[in-house]
Amino acid sequence: MSNDPTRAFRLDGRVALITGASSGIGAELARAFAAAGAKVALVARRADRLEALVSELRAQGASALPLSLDVRDTAALPAVFDRIAAELGVADVLVNNAGVAKVGSFLRASEAERDDSFAVNFDAAWDLSAEASRRMIAAARPGCIINIASVLALGAAPGYAAYATSKAALVQLTRCLALELQRHSIRVNGLAPGWFVTEMNDDWLTSPEGQDYLRRTPARRAGRLEELVGPALLLASEAGSFVNGVTLAVDGAHHAALA
Ligand SMILES: NC(=O)c1ccc[n+]([C@@H]2O[C@H](COP(=O)([O-])OP(=O)(O)OC[C@H]3O[C@@H](n4cnc5c(N)ncnc54)[C@H](OP(=O)(O)O)[C@@H]3O)[C@@H](O)[C@H]2O)c1
Repeated sequence: MSNDPTRAFRLDGRVALITGASSGIGAELARAFAAAGAKVALVARRADRLEALVSELRAQGASALPLSLDVRDTAALPAVFDRIAAELGVADVLVNNAGVAKVGSFLRASEAERDDSFAVNFDAAWDLSAEASRRMIAAARPGCIINIASVLALGAAPGYAAYATSKAALVQLTRCLALELQRHSIRVNGLAPGWFVTEMNDDWLTSPEGQDYLRRTPARRAGRLEELVGPALLLASEAGSFVNGVTLAVDGAHHAALA
């Protein structure tokens, strides 16, 4: 039916570059975006993981490209974007999802830990956004950027100074870029996930202490990865055409308790 409003959530004809696609949230979004019709370019360091996911997606009829890259390697970005353009088309959806979380006391944290949090969680998102948006503009292609922030960008918790500040900077970058890129028809939004069990945190979240912590959150449970799919599709698709500059918490109201 042509007036089916759910069609606006489809991503047919779009080329989505998703960083951190070798596991967790990135892999979940890669599967979802491919199922919604996008061609997907998958970036992370673990090439074997990317190859396995690409094989899975191709077997389902999707167009998918694995790209082994450390997102801190700014000099490699032009060649990566050239390859995506040659094999899939100009990337017009960018999901800055690659991230690292170092947990520990501020007083004991090293400069290197702080710098690496910012290098992956913030600087790489900046550099990828610049490369992606310049190419969208050159191709006169509307598009969007989605930055994966965190509930810890919206409210603080002890032990996460480097992580939380790098993610808070990403939220502010989201607002700045939304204002600057709107005239080029590029929307920039973010998602702020609460706790989701992934390789980043499964040791702790599945421990008795972690389970006890989750029971004390407003939703009393971790999120399920599929609960990020609807919000991500909203931001990536025409369904979200007037949504710009927001960071949407997907956390069972955890941000309301932390803030
Ligand atoms: N899980 C949660 O509760 C939660 C909550 C809030 C926000 N987040 C955010 O969600 C995003 C995804 O995390 P996740 O939970 O799905 O954890 P995850 O399974 O550990 O995924 C992290 C991803 O980032 C990639 N990555 C890390 N450093 C990289 C680098 N230097 N270059 C390229 N890729 C790199 C990893 O790939 P390789 O190791 O293969 O490079 C991996 O694919 C992160 O930004 C995280 O901060 C997660």
